[in-house]
Amino acid sequence: MAGIGTRDPLPGSPKLPFPERFLWGTATAAHQVEGDNVKNDWWAFEHKPGSIWHGDRSGLACDWWRHAEADFDLMASMAHNTHRLSVEWSRIEPEEGAFDPAAIARYREMLSGLRRRGIEPMVTLFHFSSPQWLARQGGWCNPAVVGRFRRFVRYTVEQLGDLVKLWCTINEPNVYASLGYLLGMQAPGEKNPRHCFQVLSHELQAHAAAYRVIKALDGSAHVGLVVNTVVFQPLDPANRLSVGAAILADYIFHELIFRSVSDGRLRFPLGVRPAPHGPLIDSVDFWGANYYSRQRVAPQLRFLQLTPGAEVSDSGQFGPYGEVYPEGIYRVLKRLAALGKPIYVTENGLPDADDDQRPSYLLTHLAQVQRAITEGVDVRGYYHWSFTDNFEWSEGWALRFGLIALNEKTQVRTPRKSAQLYTDIIRANAITPETVGAYAPELLDDIFAAGEVQHSP
Ligand code: FCB
Repeated sequence: MAGIGTRDPLPGSPKLPFPERFLWGTATAAHQVEGDNVKNDWWAFEHKPGSIWHGDRSGLACDWWRHAEADFDLMASMAHNTHRLSVEWSRIEPEEGAFDPAAIARYREMLSGLRRRGIEPMVTLFHFSSPQWLARQGGWCNPAVVGRFRRFVRYTVEQLGDLVKLWCTINEPNVYASLGYLLGMQAPGEKNPRHCFQVLSHELQAHAAAYRVIKALDGSAHVGLVVNTVVFQPLDPANRLSVGAAILADYIFHELIFRSVSDGRLRFPLGVRPAPHGPLIDSVDFWGANYYSRQRVAPQLRFLQLTPGAEVSDSGQFGPYGEVYPEGIYRVLKRLAALGKPIYVTENGLPDADDDQRPSYLLTHLAQVQRAITEGVDVRGYYHWSFTDNFEWSEGWALRFGLIALNEKTQVRTPRKSAQLYTDIIRANAITPETVGAYAPELLDDIFAAGEVQHSP
């Protein structure tokens, strides 16, 4: 794309380089892109009136079950060298204990297709959607889920393991437990604190079980856990209740997971004993960090608050993706680095249908990732959320996260200018003054100053 800026780069400004062999791509989840996932709990949830904004349905989604390869071609043409996708449990095991070879064949075709195009697959084994048969047994509230998940993981990894070297066990156990079982915003739509913590405990046990199974099948596989990371800060730093609420929110959302995995002990309110299904301790080869935003927390744990005056995305007041806060990704990476494992940014992005914020979002967030790398944090790759617009869970088709706009009715794809910006960064393996000058010239001073990234206060 021709330059769209009006300012020349600062003379002599250095570029911000990324490590050699850095992985660059996008992330998706099966239910959000495949279409016709009629045997999972989300399909059922979508059909309950009032569950999804505007009554939207996933329907054909991005039609990947039939035509993912068309998007893989586009990824390759955009210089992506990796893609994070998930497998759909309800396709591989549509009825309990009955595995479907046709589903495996299709996933093998997709994964080989990615590899042939020079795109390294990263595969998530659970990304929010469960088979309906599992939901009928009580889903993730039932402790039996740990054994059921282990059996599914064993079969899937036996069948696909030769094509996959990067596995994520579970996507965002913290979001799945809290939105699905505490806030009632996602399937199964419960508001039950006891269930929320039971589910989180089962997810961590299932993660540990999956980690052991994968490593036993393929010792060279790299296996990680993906956590949604939020910078929680008090809405009013002078108010002790607000400060306490932010600390508590952070403990429940992050620390419970980090500490339990670090020493293998499920702690209150998840339990007080080692995870029974294979030790949690040392059960990650890498951490996956999904980072979107900062949230301010008011007393009584009223989170999802915006910083007054902050730039907000299309989701506005809707907290999880509301505030644009680039320094947050740096903070998250520094925090995870202390856990001593390599890190992938497994999701980062914003809903922005007209793409008037995404170019600067991409540049400022990637500059902060690069800042962490220059300070020694072992970040191995970056996955933008997402490739095309897709079915955004309870917000349906209302929030548009794609580098590529999708008309879900016609399935026509139209790249946004951010798609080309991302490709320019990938090709340079760096953020260059030329790129910033072309897409967001107003950021030149912020991003480059005497060879250093400038940081917001
Ligand atoms: C994350 C989910 C992902 C997508 C993005 C916007 O929490 O993992 O599936 O919905 O948010």
